[in-house]
Amino acid sequence: MQATTPTAEPTSFTPEALLAWLRRQREAGSIHHDEQQRIWQVFGYADAERVLSDPSWFSSDFSEIMPHQRDFDLFSRGNFVRMDPPKHRKLRGLVSQAFTPRMVTGLAPRIAALTTELLDGLRGATRFDLVDRLAYPLPVIVIAELLGIPVEDRGTFRKWAEALFSSNQQTTELKLDEAALKTLFDAVAPTMREMNSYLLAHIRQRRARPADDLTSELVRAEVDGERLDDQEIVGFVGLLLLAGHITTTALLGNSILILDEHPDAATEVRADPTRLPAAIEEVLRYRPPFPRLARRATSDVELAGHAIAANEIVILWIAAANRDPAQFPEPDRFDIRRAPNPHLAFGRGIHFCLGAPLARLETKIVLGILLERYREIVVARDEPAEFYNPWTMISAKRLPVHVRPA
Ligand code: HEM
Repeated sequence: MQATTPTAEPTSFTPEALLAWLRRQREAGSIHHDEQQRIWQVFGYADAERVLSDPSWFSSDFSEIMPHQRDFDLFSRGNFVRMDPPKHRKLRGLVSQAFTPRMVTGLAPRIAALTTELLDGLRGATRFDLVDRLAYPLPVIVIAELLGIPVEDRGTFRKWAEALFSSNQQTTELKLDEAALKTLFDAVAPTMREMNSYLLAHIRQRRARPADDLTSELVRAEVDGERLDDQEIVGFVGLLLLAGHITTTALLGNSILILDEHPDAATEVRADPTRLPAAIEEVLRYRPPFPRLARRATSDVELAGHAIAANEIVILWIAAANRDPAQFPEPDRFDIRRAPNPHLAFGRGIHFCLGAPLARLETKIVLGILLERYREIVVARDEPAEFYNPWTMISAKRLPVHVRPA
């Protein structure tokens, strides 16, 4: 049994266009094969969950099938999101010791103080770009402080994240053939090089003069009696720095947009802020920051009656799985009372997002303070929000809002 991907192309690059496209794909079948590129695309919840939960058949390590490039190879040495067991377990184990629930909860006062400071900096403005003034700076300052990296350099981190996630490109095509990948790698290699050397300098400095931060802990840490070398820590710190902020920026922006579109839900969380955590989970289901994840088949394997060959790539559409009616009743309804809500926005299985508790805490605190401070938060109608390419990341790049102080 082989299904091929329906070809209808979307005409715009908004989250709604992506979601409408994904709905058409899922209705045409949970799994599609793109013969030309030899990739599989998975749209159904059960199949996506199976792939994510089975790293022995579906690997996160693409190094064998990707072109080799010096800067990427260096970053890959510590980038454990692209590793399989046992190496993944060892490296993740290291950082999870530092990312304990207690440590994350302990950040609450700092997150609240930073949010207040950023909003105070608006000096009574009643209209501002929520991304620029709050949703971007807050998480990047938090993660930079954790890593001991200068927060003043955050403009540079944003430039790296935009270049590496290619989220400005207006294309729905997933070009994964050798030539396309080589072109892509060559295009982003200078950014990778700049980021690696910045991080390496920071790591060397911490090795020479340890401080009270996560980078110094990684420098000191031992895996099976061995220390990580500086180059191994580059990908590690880089992963935390990038994964640790742009996703939370996306979640904050998506929360404001969705509450604006659903005034009843907004009224409900305003009246009872204890509903915020459930509302945030529903935002994550409804518009997950990462719409898709990727895996590689380790051997010939069957998935829901389809024969997947060794080394073929499987793209898991989280944003489609999160709207699968077989898993979520009335999936297109934004419902802050949905329970249970086993969305896949943070992934599933051994790579489940390490920063999920931090992202949830940041979002809860920021939304809580916004709702308390402003009696009204309305997305500006005369200057529509701008988005990154939602096929890569569902995130506002600019989100002008009007606010009315409480
Ligand atoms: C709303 C915010 C966030 C979302 C939606 C998100 C999403 C994800 C997803 C889907 C994965 C799994 C990737 C895969 O299976 O291939 C992941 C992994 C990861 N995330 Fe997040 N993330 C968020 C915030 C954060 C934050 C704040 C941090 C760090 C402080 C972080 C650090 C990581 C790390 C280190 C991994 C790799 C885990 C592993 O491979 O074991 N994330 N994230």
